[in-house]
Parts: sequence; C-alpha cells; structure tokens
Amino acid sequence: MSLWEALPSVAVVGGQSSGKSSVLESIVGRDFLPRGSGIVTRRPLVLQLHKTASGAEYAEFLHAPKRRFTDFAAVRKEISDETDRITGKTKQISNIPIHLSIYSPNVVNLTLIDLPGLTKVAVEGQSDSIVEDIENMVRSYVEKPNCIILAITPANQDIATSDAIKLAREVDPSGERTFGVLTKLDLMDKGTNATEVLEGRAYRLQHPWVGIVNRSQADINKNVDMIVARRKEREYFETSPDYGHLASRMGSEYLAKLLSQHLELVIRQRIPSIIAMINKTIDELNAELDRIGRPIAADGGAQLYMILELCRAFDRVFKEHLD
Ligand code: GDP
Ligand code: NA
Ligand code: MG
Repeated sequence: MSLWEALPSVAVVGGQSSGKSSVLESIVGRDFLPRGSGIVTRRPLVLQLHKTASGAEYAEFLHAPKRRFTDFAAVRKEISDETDRITGKTKQISNIPIHLSIYSPNVVNLTLIDLPGLTKVAVEGQSDSIVEDIENMVRSYVEKPNCIILAITPANQDIATSDAIKLAREVDPSGERTFGVLTKLDLMDKGTNATEVLEGRAYRLQHPWVGIVNRSQADINKNVDMIVARRKEREYFETSPDYGHLASRMGSEYLAKLLSQHLELVIRQRIPSIIAMINKTIDELNAELDRIGRPIAADGGAQLYMILELCRAFDRVFKEHLD
C-alpha cells in the first residue's frame, strides 16, 4: 500500500438519479459534473482536490495532461466526452476510471469518487449483467477500509428499499465510515416528512443523517448557480415547519463540514500506522541492503538520500491533508 492509498477518500453510493453527482458538486462548491435523469455517470470519476496557496482555479485530466481547464463547463463536457470515448454514446458502463484534479485555494485536499448508480433492471441497450456489473464496480471502491461512504437515499423513496444503505451495511457493518445522506426532501409527498429518518429513529446510523436539497432538473435547465442553490437550500431548512429545529445540522455546507471534521479525525488516528508504514519501508530498504551487501561508505549516502526522499514524500502528502 502506498502512502497516498493509506489516506481516506470519499465515495458516493446510491440508486440511479438519487442525487449522487449533485451532492459531490455541492461539496466541491463548483458546477462541473454531468447530472440528470437516467444513467449519466457511466464511468468512475476519481476527483483529487488540491488546495493551492493562492491563484486561479483550474482542472486537469490525467488523460489530457497538457490541457489546463479554467472553464468548469468545459470540464463537464470533457467528462462526458471522455465517458463516450470508452463506452460510446450508449447506456453501457465502463469500470475504467476518469482521473480529474482540481487545483484551487477554495477546496480541502481530498479524493472524491463519483460512481454510476445502482440499478434494478437492465434497460434497452444494456447488457443483461449490468445490474451486477455496477454493483461489483461500486463495491470494489467502497469495500476499501479507507473509503468513507456517502450513502445517498432520495427522501421520496422508502428508506427500507435503499440500495445505498444495503451496500454500505454490507461493506461497513459497524457504520463507522458511512454517512447517510437524504436528498430530494423537497420532492416528498405533501403531508409526509423525513423527521423519523433525519432524527435517527427510522434507521440508526453511527453518524447523524444529513438532509439535502439539491437543484431540481428545472433549476439545472435554468442554470441556477451553486451560490443561489446553497442559499435556497439554507432557506428551505430555516423556514421549514418540519425541519426548522434541525436546520443547523442540515444541508450541503453542513455535510462538507462534517466530512472534513471526520477526515481530520481519521488522519490523526492514522498517523501511527502511516509512520509505521514509513518505518517498514526503511526496514525493507535495510533488509535489501543486507541481502545485496551493505554499500561502502560512499553509497551510504544513497541510502540516506532515499530515506530523506521518503520523509519528504510523507511530509508533502501529510501537510496537504492537514492544512
Ligand atoms: P445521480 O444519478 O445520482 O448522480 O443524480 P444526479 O445528481 O445526476 O441527479 C439526478 C436528477 O435528480 C437531476 O435531474 C437532479 O436535478 C435531480 N435532483 C437531485 N437531487 C435533488 C433534490 O434534492 N431535489 C430535487 N428537486 N431534485 C434533485
Ligand atoms: Na442520473
Ligand atoms: Mg451521477
């Protein structure tokens, strides 16, 4: 395992069109992901957020390293084009991830993973095995012990049928790395509300549930921007007769805060094992040197150099994740 892999990432899990891509965008605070009804996300998107000290925001794809994107609408188009490059303009999926990095002074250092939605049946143009294929692909990401799971469930669907909760419980039975996110609160039937779930009485999770109101399809069509969307979401909770008492613990901004607190905790807990990993690497280095024969004095410098390089790499990764 590399040091980078030892650090936590955050993945979204849920049914198709439950609002996964919308939630990720809100956490990042930028509009750049393809969203919509049907199967829009058809390849995993591994998104690395890099906090920069200052300067403009830009994005880079691993598959097009020389191109620097400053227009986030173009980032969205490139995700969609790059998806089609592998799958064609079909409803097929591919488990080959798209790697995207965003550099910005306004993000926290974090790896986020957007995944295709879990489905129940294959539709026209999809292989018979697609239901299983998607589930296996999603599982391969969220079963990793360092993966924090955002289990996305739409509020206008029965929680008992939530694919997100089902899969999360399977890979994380204790619930220590699962966050329950309830989207589409605004779309619930009149006369019903989600307080049972949000207050943890319907389905108890280790971490508190967070309710979300993302942009509707009409908002997306009208190009309602992130700032307006967040304001509307805040107003929704503050003025809601059902959720007013929970307002300070609801919404995308609160979810982002909750996640960064949790990440900091996880990283702090992991410091000893990360250090152990470095020590192990140094031990391995020493064992290798014992095996091939200790270098004479002149080459001792090479060993020291390698150890210093390791420490430097450690320091870099570590600092990035704590500032
Ligand atoms: P994904 O398929 O899970 O990634 O879901 P998307 O983020 O692409 O959203 C699917 C559709 O649901 C889009 O049309 C969104 O506008 C809509 N949507 C997502 N969340 C909400 C929400 O909280 N409220 C409303 N009204 N619509 C939402
Ligand atoms: Na969708
Ligand atoms: Mg999506």
